[in-house]
Amino acid sequence: MRAIQIDRFGTPDVLRVADVPEPVPAAGEVLVRTVATALNPVDDKTREGAIGEGTPPLPLTLGWDLAGIVVDGGDSGLDTGARVIAMSHQLGSARGTWADLVALPAGAVAPAPASVSLPQAATLPLPGLTAWQTLEWLAVSAGERLLVAGAAGAVGGLALQIARARGVEVDALVSREAQAAFARGHGAGFVTTDPAALPEGRYDAVFDTFGAFVTGAVADGGRYASIATQAGPVPDLSARGVRTTVHQVREDGAGLAELSRLVDEGALKLRLHGTYSVREVVAAHERYLRGGLAGKIALAF
Ligand SMILES: NC(=O)c1ccc[n+]([C@@H]2O[C@H](COP(=O)([O-])OP(=O)(O)OC[C@H]3O[C@@H](n4cnc5c(N)ncnc54)[C@H](OP(=O)(O)O)[C@@H]3O)[C@@H](O)[C@H]2O)c1
Repeated sequence: MRAIQIDRFGTPDVLRVADVPEPVPAAGEVLVRTVATALNPVDDKTREGAIGEGTPPLPLTLGWDLAGIVVDGGDSGLDTGARVIAMSHQLGSARGTWADLVALPAGAVAPAPASVSLPQAATLPLPGLTAWQTLEWLAVSAGERLLVAGAAGAVGGLALQIARARGVEVDALVSREAQAAFARGHGAGFVTTDPAALPEGRYDAVFDTFGAFVTGAVADGGRYASIATQAGPVPDLSARGVRTTVHQVREDGAGLAELSRLVDEGALKLRLHGTYSVREVVAAHERYLRGGLAGKIALAF
């Protein structure tokens, strides 16, 4: 079968379509035929060699997102032919999803949203679970005030929509004016490109997707979560009673099932910039690196 692999680190031209053995699902695993997957910042960092020590040995199949069709559901209760989505913690397990067939623990797999195509669904798992789990940690509830830093990004855009669906008041810090319209259009109240314009101590919770560390904006006794691992820990705010974390996403089929439900209810809109074929994987990455995208890039198998 085909798998997109690297055998050295570097620019997108190190990506190659390799012929590798098909995976054999172990007990408790589900075998999925990939229809589409998506590009995420972590794939880029892994390919470049920027992850460092946490990188599994080379050669390595890349990819975290999966949307496809069940080939063998094992004892999961998933029928052969079912449309599913999954997130594979590729750095932890070395199981990349950029392959024709992927075997994953049943607990990482969930029904795909019925209302969107599988390439659209492939944009959901990694950013969606990161948004979902970080919001769970932040425990924001209806009527509370949340600031999302990077609210027009893949994770931030989903966090904004999930929080709004829960009745949370959401403000947004974005990088440029073009992104402000997205944030306003998805229910953000106050939207700014200027961190200095954020009101001091206003927010019950801050969801920081790029290491903004706008710690003055969180209220005393509040919560501050970053997902920007590369930016390091959030400064210690314990003197103000603020809890902090750098959230690390984990495989979570139950969370994915909730996200699929939100998509089918219309509460969560997915943004797909375009779909490239596996043969166009280098071009897909070059487009990704040029930036300015209003949605994700999917790879179709
Ligand atoms: N810890 C975890 O488990 C985990 C999980 C998923 C993702 N991540 C990490 O989280 C980060 C975000 O992921 P993503 O998929 O959401 O990426 P993304 O789609 O590229 O979104 C990042 C957003 O932040 C914005 N941004 C960057 N610098 C900014 C600045 N100085 N001021 C305002 N906005 C700024 C970007 O705007 P522009 O497009 O204009 O640059 C973009 O909208 C990545 O570093 C990713 O590796 C971590």
